[in-house]
This record gives sequence, structure tokens and C-alpha cells, in this order.
Amino acid sequence: MAKPSWLKNPWATDPWFETVAVAQQRARKRLPKSVYGALVAGSEAGLTVDDNTAAFRELGFAPHVAGLSDKREMATTILGQDVSLPVMISPTGVQAVHPDGEVAVARAAAARGTAMGLSSFASKSVEEVAAVNDKTFFQMYWVGSREVLVQRMERARAAGAKGLIMTLDWSFSNGRDWGSPAIPERMNLEAMVKFAPEGIIRPKWLLEWAKTGAVPDLTTPNLTPPGGRAPTFFGAYGEWMTTPLPTWEDVAWLREQWGDAPFMLKGVMRVDDAKRAVDAGVTAISVSNHGGNNLDGTPAPIRALPAIAEAVGTDVEVLLDGGIRRGSDVVKAIALGAKAVLIGRAYLWGLAANGQAGVENVLDILSGGIGSALMGLGKNSIHELTPDDVFVPDGFRRDLGI
Ligand SMILES: Cc1cc2nc3c(=O)[nH]c(=O)nc-3n(C[C@H](O)[C@H](O)[C@H](O)COP(=O)(O)O)c2cc1C
Repeated sequence: MAKPSWLKNPWATDPWFETVAVAQQRARKRLPKSVYGALVAGSEAGLTVDDNTAAFRELGFAPHVAGLSDKREMATTILGQDVSLPVMISPTGVQAVHPDGEVAVARAAAARGTAMGLSSFASKSVEEVAAVNDKTFFQMYWVGSREVLVQRMERARAAGAKGLIMTLDWSFSNGRDWGSPAIPERMNLEAMVKFAPEGIIRPKWLLEWAKTGAVPDLTTPNLTPPGGRAPTFFGAYGEWMTTPLPTWEDVAWLREQWGDAPFMLKGVMRVDDAKRAVDAGVTAISVSNHGGNNLDGTPAPIRALPAIAEAVGTDVEVLLDGGIRRGSDVVKAIALGAKAVLIGRAYLWGLAANGQAGVENVLDILSGGIGSALMGLGKNSIHELTPDDVFVPDGFRRDLGI
């Protein structure tokens, strides 16, 4: 039975938050400094991570005031799956944000009728995640031998993954001008002692973990060899660094191994690469710069999107990720040619702030924002959006690789 309002603690903070910015503030307060630092991330000078959000602010709307529509149609499909809003969860390999990790995220996505991208560097297994969200897409990097890649892919397929995401935009950039967080190799006694002061000043985070009786184990269960143990995050990273870099033939080969099932190439920023991806037989691409964690100085995906959508938008599904913080950002991306978007930090902050409910809260904020932007633009549906709905200032676009 719900508590009567006079019995509730008047000083307790309402776990619900109004915007993604508020979720970020809560995440900053709640998480140990190094865990929060790993979420904010961004490489080198942070030019790209900043541009990802700044670029959305340069785009404008031209709203109507009368003759508006009561309809707010936002259902669509992503990689053949019906979704109730044009937003899905982008794969992130972040450990230690919340003990329920990607399982909580996948549940939240399922509760809101959308798809889950699960990183191969995630803290929960594809079996656990696909069991709670039947629209799970498994993400792989080009790590290990061909035999190992096929083994990981087949494991994801057997677990029920409906699509494969291949992420290629990673150039092992290192160093951040604002300092990289220290992440231990393993959460053993030595690491716990070292990180204890950070945890102690974040009691809510510590309590969440204490309730489960576990510590963040920083292993990658989706990269476990048959009959072996899950490698540590850094063990897996080492394997990645020593794997020869993939060619376009390798992309076509991986796509072929996945058979007829949907396949997304994530990290495309240039028109010529988008065309090569089409030739390699992909179902979808995501215009993305890895959330500003890759080659610093790469422009925001929203700047590169129009040229790519014009070139290949009728051949493959064109998605976008990077910098989405509001429903209006989603509407801008769709108007400029994206079919849907993926979100990264927005849901990680929601997860840190309030677990599964926090991720649902973020998806609700985005869907509310999409609804009000559609209303203001006088549109019934996301499918009616066109570039004319957005004011694009001169010099905004970056037509790369034409
Ligand atoms: C902390 C962090 C970890 C990430 N890990 C992965 C990953 O394992 N695989 C992947 O494809 N992308 C990864 N990404 C990139 C996201 O999938 C996505 O492209 C990016 O977060 C989108 O930008 P946004 O955070 O501004 O929404 C990561 C991003 C962040 C911030």
C-alpha cells in the first residue's frame, strides 16, 4: 500500500527528473569521480564531444501556432523491429554505473517499447539482456581472429539477438586534457582499498552495490572463450589492440557470416564510406563519432548527416548517434534524414540517477519532447518531417567524403 503523503519524508528528493541535464547533475553527485569521468569521456581537447551537442543548438525551428495536429505518431522500425519511438539504446561498454547494469537498461527499453544495443564490452551477458528485451542487437568490434568473431556472434544469435552492430570508429586515441579516470584492472582487495575514499563520499552508489553483496567486477562476459573465464576489461582491450585492423572485405565477410539478419555499421562519417557500407551489404548505418571518444576534431554527426542521407538514405537505414539530449534533437535529426537515433550518455546518466526507472524517465523525456516538437511544427507524425522543418544556418553542414 502506498504511504500517505503526510508520512513521507519531506526532505527526500523526488527521484523523478525533468530533463537529461538534471539526470546528469544527479549522476555527477551520485557516482564516484572515476566512474562519472568514464561516462563523460571525450578524447584529447574535447572538440568533438563539445561539437556533438553544440551543433544541435545551431539548428532552429519555425513553429506554427494554429491549425496544429492532435496526432503525435512516433512509431517506426529499426533493423526490422517495431519500436514505439525513434530512439534506441546505443551500446556502451561502461561498467560499475549500477549493479543491474545493462539488464536494467534493457528492461527500461522494453517497458517503453524500444530496442537495446548491447556492447561486447558490457558488464552483463547477452543471454541475460536478450531475455528481458526481445529487441536486442549485439555490438561487436573487430577483435580477435575470424574464428573467435564467429563464435561470439553465434553465441549472441543463440541468445536471441535480432541484429548485429559492428562498430569501427576507434583509433585508440589516448589522453584527455581534463584527465582520464583511473580504472583498475580488477576489483580486488588492493583496488578496493585504493578506490574506497571515492566510494565513501558517494554513499548512495555504495549502498546500491552493498545491497547486491557484489562489487563491480570489471570483466567482459560477452567475450568469454568457450569453457574459459570472462576476460577483464583491459585484457579484452589488449586483444583488441593487437588484432589486425579490418578492411572493407572484412566488413563484407562479417556481414555475410551474420546471414540475412539485420546488420548495422556504426561510426560512419563520410559519404564514400557510407557507399562502401552499402556495397558491403549492410542493412543500416549509424552516422556517429563514438560520442566524441574517438578522433578528436571529427565534426558532430548531425553536420555530416544530410549529405550521407542524401547519398544512401534510400539504400539503407540511416541512423545517427551523438549529442542527443532532448526530444527536439531527435526531431532535428529525423528532419535532416535520420530514420531514428541512438542515445548513449543520456541513458547512462538516467541509470546512474535512478536505475531502470531513471532510464525510463529519460525515454519519457525524449518522447515528450518529440511530441511537443511535432505539435509545434504542425506535423502528425515523425514520418512527415522534412529538411524544411529545420532552419539550417549557412556553413552548418560538413559534407565529408564527397
Ligand atoms: C562511456 C561510453 C562507452 C561507450 N562504449 C561503447 C561501446 O562499447 N561500443 C560502441 O559501439 N559504442 C560505445 N560508445 C559510443 C556510444 O554507443 C554512442 O556512440 C555515443 O555515446 C553517442 O553519443 P552520446 O553519448 O552523446 O549520446 C560509448 C560511449 C560512451 C560515452
